[in-house]
Parts: sequence; C-alpha cells; structure tokens
Amino acid sequence: MKKIPHRIYLTEDQMPKQWYNLRADMKEIPDPMLNPQTFKPATAEELYPVFCEELAKQEMDDSTRYVDIPEEIQEFYKMFRPSPLIRAYNLEEALGTPAKIYYKFEGNNTSGSHKLNSAVAQAYYAKEQGLKSLTTETGAGQWGTALAEACSYYNIPLTVYMVKCSYEQKPFRKAIIETFDGNIIPSPSTTTNAGRAILEKDPDTTGSLGCAISEAVEKAVTTEGCKYVLGSVLNQVLLHQSIIGLESKIAMESIDEYPDIVIGCAGGGSNLGGVIAPFMQDKLTGKANPMIIAVEPASCPSLTRGRYAYDFCDVGKITPLARMYTLGSSFVPSANHAGGLRYHGMSPIVSKLYHDGYMEAISVEQTKVFEAATLFAKHETILPAPESAHAIYGAIEEALKCKESGEEKTILFGLTGTGYFDMMAYESYLKGTMTDYIPTDEDLEKGFSELPKVLGIQE
Ligand SMILES: Cc1ncc(COP(=O)(O)O)c(C=O)c1O
Repeated sequence: MKKIPHRIYLTEDQMPKQWYNLRADMKEIPDPMLNPQTFKPATAEELYPVFCEELAKQEMDDSTRYVDIPEEIQEFYKMFRPSPLIRAYNLEEALGTPAKIYYKFEGNNTSGSHKLNSAVAQAYYAKEQGLKSLTTETGAGQWGTALAEACSYYNIPLTVYMVKCSYEQKPFRKAIIETFDGNIIPSPSTTTNAGRAILEKDPDTTGSLGCAISEAVEKAVTTEGCKYVLGSVLNQVLLHQSIIGLESKIAMESIDEYPDIVIGCAGGGSNLGGVIAPFMQDKLTGKANPMIIAVEPASCPSLTRGRYAYDFCDVGKITPLARMYTLGSSFVPSANHAGGLRYHGMSPIVSKLYHDGYMEAISVEQTKVFEAATLFAKHETILPAPESAHAIYGAIEEALKCKESGEEKTILFGLTGTGYFDMMAYESYLKGTMTDYIPTDEDLEKGFSELPKVLGIQE
C-alpha cells in the first residue's frame, strides 16, 4: 500500500480560483442583519458608510455559490499558500489511536495565522475602491498583524485597536504591526467617544473585542475616506476563509481520503467556517455526512452556553445587529484567558448551522488546552497558538474515543496558527500558575439581560 506522505502540498495550479459561499447551499439562510437605528433588515447601501462596497455586497450575497478570487489576490496568496495538509503520524502514535489525524496548517506567514487569507482580500477591495485608510480591531494580535501586512503591501494607512490585556501580554505585536507601518492603539482608549465612555464606566477594564470594534468603527465613520474591516464573524470573512477547506478537500482527495470528523476552534467562527466549508456543503447537499465539531473556550462559551438572539457586534452598540449565538455584547471574558477566542458572539452562518443541528460544539478549560498544545508541540514540532490548540484538544478527544472503540476514523482539524507570541501563557502553564475561569450562570445572565429588544422579533 502506498504510504501517505507526512505533508501534502498542492501545486500553485491546484489552488482554488474561487471561494465557496456556504449560504448558497444552506436550507435556511441566516437571518438578515438589522440596521441599528431602524431595526429593519440592513441593505448593502446602509453598510457603505462603514464597510468597503464590494465587501458589503459579499456580505449580503446569499446566493452566489462560487465567487471568483481576483487574480491579484491569487498572486498574493501564492506568497504563503497553498498551505500544507499534514498527517499527524507522531501524534497518532503517541496517543496509540487507530484514527488517522490530519491538520491543515495555516501558520506559515508573518501573522502566524489564517487571518491573512481575508486580510489580503479586504485590503485589495479597499484599494480598488480608492479608500484612503482602514481601521480594525485585534484581539490576540494575529488579525492586526495580518491586516498590517496586507495594507503595507497595498500602501493603505491602517489603525489597529488592540484589546488592552492582549496588548500588555504581547508587547512585540506592537513592534511587528509597526514594522508594517500600522498604527496600534490599546483599547479602550481615549481617542474615541466609545473608548472614553467605556473607560468612564470601568477605568480598569481589560478590554474586549466588542469594545475595540466600537472604537475602530467610530474612527472609520468619523474619518473621510476611511472604512472599517473585521477579521472574523462576518459572512464575507467566512467566504475568504473557505480557501482553507477547499484546499484541504483537494489535498485529501489526492490521497483518497475524506474526513469522518472535521474540527475547528471557534472564536468569531472564521477559520471554522472556512475549514468546514466544502465538507458542510457535502452534508447540506446529502453527498456525505461528516461530523463537524466547534471547540470554544469554557471562559467564553458563546455556542455552548450563549443565546441564539439578535445582538450588537460591539460593546458600543453602533454596529448592525446580527442573529447569532451570543453572551451579550457587554460580556467581558476573563482577562486570564490566554487565547484570542474572547468574543461575545459567533458568526451568523456558524450559529445558524449549529442551531439547525448540522454541527456540534464543546467548550474546554484553558489548562486542558495547553496540555493538548504541549503534547502536540512535542510530537509534531509546531508550537500551536492557544486558539488553535482548542481544535487540537478536540481532535485528541476524538482520537482517544477511536482508541476505545477501535474505529479507524479519519479526523481533520484546522491548525490555525503558531503560538510564538503567546509564550507568557505557555510559561504560566508550565509553571503551574495558569488557572481556569468558567463564568457562572449569574455572570452570563448579566450579558443576556442587556440583549436588545427588537419589536416583533425579540421582546
Ligand atoms: C490563530 C487563531 N486561531 C483562531 C482564531 C479565532 O478566530 P476565528 O474564530 O475567527 O477563526 C484567532 C483569532 O484571533 C487566531 O488568531
């Protein structure tokens, strides 16, 4: 029997030339975004003051199944793609599992993550529209770095609002974003009304993604020629990230494999939506029935303990409302959490698929995540990002179930990035000082109590 290589690389010619839009095959599409002023379904035009026009159109497009990837973006992709699909032979052996474990490694670019897949696309469309500058938020820093890389390439000035606790935990993110000429500000800051209001209420706040989003959106709408871009949650971002799953599927087909289980970590849902995309398509169209699992942090459990409701995407309540699994836009996850999965909501596409029973979700404490991360690093030699290690944890759990049952399942997971900027977290895990914080039901109630009332839909 021909042995499957450790690493399967596609050639540049084999790279997908189109992104795949999951919404085109969903039996029911996600509920529309609502305009925050009128609470009526938002139109693409209403998004133009905040978003780049082409991206707003992609956001609203529920029916185009395949979207051509512009040549310029394909060329940029070639600087860091195709990414390898890797057979985790050593991890399998260490676990003593009959399962076959594959992972798609997206960490081989300076951002250290999959985020560059969408950053390139968003910066490209901004350039095409002739925009003068962009703003964004970043949690762990990977998205801010990715966008800085892309904006520097297309020569677009960028301001990044970085969640304050991550900014302090990872000082080198500043240096790297500045290397790419980005301007980086810890959030909440005194540079915006939203930031000042949040600081007034809670001067010691450690910040959150929702709060950084408010600042970045405000800066965009108050600056001429400036738009806001977001690295996760939105439909357009999942569209761009579908490249992960599409490449994975081609690579697996080339070795006659198909996953029984597909696993992704879940922050805002972009890598998850990307890695599962073509496999979920098979599930939706009845061609195959892989099990799909989202792994989220127990400290920020939007899918497993959140409400499926309309909510703002930011703390300042200035963004459109999305129907999604949410912990409430005022929910601030515990600062001791090491990963960048600290977002109160979840992609509306992922939320809808989960709500309709097409996928499962689990949540896990961070000490267990780091146990999985260190085991993986030792056997596979890649030091994973804490976010990615959630997916590793999920894969190990499934592989151990196979060990029990003797089943030879094929598992695919997304290894979204590397953890070289997360050494303080690794250090605290290794020293034994890392703790787990799981919000109580009471903590969560606070966030739910502030969910917006939407006449006739959610009262
Ligand atoms: C390496 C890595 N993986 C995963 C995530 C989670 O984001 P998403 O759920 O949008 O993929 C992040 C977010 O910062 C990240 O940096």
